[in-house]
Amino acid sequence: MKKILHVVGARPNFMKAAAVVSAIAQLPQHFQQFLVHTGQHYDVLVSDIFFTELALPNPDVNLGVGSGSQAVQTALIMERFESVVLQYAPDMTLVYGDVNSTLAAALVCSKLQIPVGHVEAGLRSFDRTMPEEINRLLTDQISDLLFVPSIDGKDNLLKEGIEEEKIKVVGNVMIDTLVRLLPEAINRWDAGKINVHGLRPGQAYALMTLHRPSNVDDLDAFKEIMDAVSGVSRHLPVIFPVHPRTMKRLKSIHYREDNRKHLHLINPIGYLDFIVLQRNARVVITDSGGTQEETTFLGIPCLTLRENTERPITVAIGTNMLIGRDLPRLQTEIELILNGQGKRGQVPLLWDGKASHRIVQVLMNHATD
Ligand code: UD1
Repeated sequence: MKKILHVVGARPNFMKAAAVVSAIAQLPQHFQQFLVHTGQHYDVLVSDIFFTELALPNPDVNLGVGSGSQAVQTALIMERFESVVLQYAPDMTLVYGDVNSTLAAALVCSKLQIPVGHVEAGLRSFDRTMPEEINRLLTDQISDLLFVPSIDGKDNLLKEGIEEEKIKVVGNVMIDTLVRLLPEAINRWDAGKINVHGLRPGQAYALMTLHRPSNVDDLDAFKEIMDAVSGVSRHLPVIFPVHPRTMKRLKSIHYREDNRKHLHLINPIGYLDFIVLQRNARVVITDSGGTQEETTFLGIPCLTLRENTERPITVAIGTNMLIGRDLPRLQTEIELILNGQGKRGQVPLLWDGKASHRIVQVLMNHATD
């Protein structure tokens, strides 16, 4: 019997961990598992609702770290996590994605010589101004097993000198959760349970998310984006669930909703509502990582407001396009999409809903080494 400790902290971790937790739960004779929530995200709308909808078990431990600067948040997680991991003494800790909780937990374990598995390893934007890129690079260097969502990730890791035996191309666990829960989300939509303010049944709309520091902390850039999207909303209603970080910045730029335009700002929404809103959108405008992947899987055109992406496969073969700061292009691309000339794409290999089972297979083999 092997003991696995999962560490999650921020919204995008929850859907990834949910897939692996559920796959491991099917083998109780081989594994015992525990879940630690660092508390990096703490609002009900960006944390608790996901536990319910994804059927994630309640965390065994919540470190309650909350917000802080990059250094304070990372340091606090490390300080509080160390005694927990010593108490649980897992055979392996699994960390997810690229948030501060990922790196902090991996660093603590590696110094205690507790093996670390990194789920969603090998992604690179090659942009070290992003905190997530630093988290990715460092977490991968100190992990013992690197679970990679697509083959390009393996190439990145090999170039960084990581031993090939540690790298496992298993596919995308985020898509596992999407495949599992999309039917339920569609049922909710069909039953009229998704009531987004301002949206009439059957109406065409764009869905937008925005929270990267480079887009929202730079208030001039943020204003320009909001103006451009307001322009888009004259022709196509835009539904914009607003992340807590972005909400603070909207107050700083004194943004006021204009009833003549159809830019609908709403609170952050749960996972089921978000995936079905993506699936039924004409286009998604985003700077999030996971959304670039989900739209590629769903075949929905995605316009990414970033100069680069750590998920280039979504551009190379999927429906994603990098718009960066070229905001006039946002308008042009949306017109093309509305005229039926939007980008079409394919689903990358191994994005098939079974990545978490491949991870469990690797863990079984590793466990018997
Ligand atoms: C974090 C991740 C980012 C991920 C995003 C998803 C890092 C470096 N960044 O960014 O990769 O895409 O989560 O949401 O780990 N806040 C609240 N309530 C909350 C959580 C945060 O109000 O529940 C506020 C905080 O006060 C803070 C801001 O939102 O001012 C940012 O939160 P933080 O967790 O530091 O980073 P995110 O921007 O959410």
